[in-house]
Amino acid sequence: MEKFDLIVIGGGPGGYEAALEASKVYGMKVALVENRELGGTCLNRGCIPTKTLLHTAELLYDLKQHGETIGLKDFQNTTCDMAALHQRKNDVVGQLVSGIGSLMKAGKVTVYNGLGTILSSDLVKVTLNEGGAMDLETDNILIATGSVPAVPPIPGADSPKVITSDELLDLDHPIDELVIIGGGVIGCEFASVFNALGTKVTIIEALPSIIANLDKEIGRSLSMILKKNRGIDIHTGAMVTAIEDDGNKAVCVYTEKDQECRVPGDLILMSVGRRANTSGLFSDDSSDVVKAIEMDRGKIIVNERYETNAPGIYAIGDVIGGIQLAHVATAEGRCAVAFMNGAPAPVDINTVPSCIYTSPEIASVGLSADEAKEKGIEVVSKKYPMSANGKTVLSLQERGFIKVIADKETGRILGAQMMCARATDMISQFAQAVANGLTLKDMSKVIYPHPTFSEGIGESVR
Ligand code: FAD
Ligand code: NAI
Repeated sequence: MEKFDLIVIGGGPGGYEAALEASKVYGMKVALVENRELGGTCLNRGCIPTKTLLHTAELLYDLKQHGETIGLKDFQNTTCDMAALHQRKNDVVGQLVSGIGSLMKAGKVTVYNGLGTILSSDLVKVTLNEGGAMDLETDNILIATGSVPAVPPIPGADSPKVITSDELLDLDHPIDELVIIGGGVIGCEFASVFNALGTKVTIIEALPSIIANLDKEIGRSLSMILKKNRGIDIHTGAMVTAIEDDGNKAVCVYTEKDQECRVPGDLILMSVGRRANTSGLFSDDSSDVVKAIEMDRGKIIVNERYETNAPGIYAIGDVIGGIQLAHVATAEGRCAVAFMNGAPAPVDINTVPSCIYTSPEIASVGLSADEAKEKGIEVVSKKYPMSANGKTVLSLQERGFIKVIADKETGRILGAQMMCARATDMISQFAQAVANGLTLKDMSKVIYPHPTFSEGIGESVR
């Protein structure tokens, strides 16, 4: 029986990066078990395919919205060929998946295509996709099995017209009307894509605001832009009670301000969060120690070293809940591998930038002013409107802002929230500042090139 130092189960951004790090940095003999495609949700059904669609959708929107203003002619008949866009998305994904395969080979990680089931702390059974099964011995196991879309038990939600992001990403034809249940990150990104492609979009959100977990001003501003500038219907404080089928369309029935309302859709996207994926990970043949691994509503519980209550079995990424982002899964995987080897954490896991790829883009890191207040920290809060930024004006971007929160006494930067073009790229500057304890003065020492969006950062810290 082949023996490894580490078996990683799940080849998403958490698992494959951890496998590489374990092999390359710590010299471990590593196996990676993946039962679908390498790259996981992020590469195959998440980050990459959504942003590929967004790229095309936003180009089309900009052309139609601003083409004439910027001196372009004869584009009014430009439409999106959905089949070609679907193919483009598959090509991008295919290219990157095969790149990960090469990385694994170069990094001397042995990849098994099959379902990994943990039998004991030192034994993993792999049910191979090509047929048959094999047992692998190991000193350590890292669970990185990710998450899948959650579908709440709303009557009618089992209709084939009610889909999740997985199926919507596979759509290869245009639709007239899309209803989105859940105005969180997935809901708002898909609303941007389909609205730009010419679909009538309605968002139904249970909470009083869309993107409710971010700075309140961001939710309010995004809502206004999506409604007024883009014509997206947004219903907040609205509870979906049922989904019906009128023979032609699915009809979403919801209650808003005590009124029962209905909105039809060719498709209804269910984007109300994701649940940890542990299907097939344990079996009746698993040892008592493995069966006793602690879970909380399906999520695997770990300690600060990412180790479960079964010694030698670690878990990271979406399957442990917390912040479900690709770069968080990667950072947790790298930390878990370091801890297995008695090394310190290689990244600051407490400074997590989070990005939303709407138009304008949204990005945040560290504390917001409200969060700092709740913690009893006295802060200075600075805000720079991007309507004064030359690059924003010349490229006809939506108005936006950059907010910086710093400790009142020391000037140390505690957090930033941005809503403007290229926010998702620029937030890393603030992540550097927060992780390394930089002050407003430190950040304002730098010369920001002109004309750039990043000049807004320079202005915001002065
Ligand atoms: P996953 O990426 O889910 O990978 C887990 C892998 O494990 C899967 O490939 C699965 O097949 C495999 N697996 C499961 N069980 C077994 C088993 N028993 N044996 C073998 N293999 C198994 N995050 C961002 O940071 N930025 C974004 O822009 C972004 N956009 C997103 C858009 C959408 C539509 C979605 C759905 C998610 C998005 N995310 C984004 C979130 C991101 O995709 C996840 O946080 C990330 O993929 C989690 O990584 P992971 O390694 O924990 O798990
Ligand atoms: P989410 O947690 O961001 O949003 C779900 C929304 O649905 C919430 O606002 C919630 O109030 C609402 N909701 C829940 N039940 C509802 C109901 N019955 N009726 C109406 N509204 C309801 O989850 P989402 O959007 O599914 O995304 C899952 C995860 O994927 C995110 O937490 C994020 O970590 C990740 N993701 C990240 C992206 C990025 O980084 N750009 C892009 C897409 C996803």
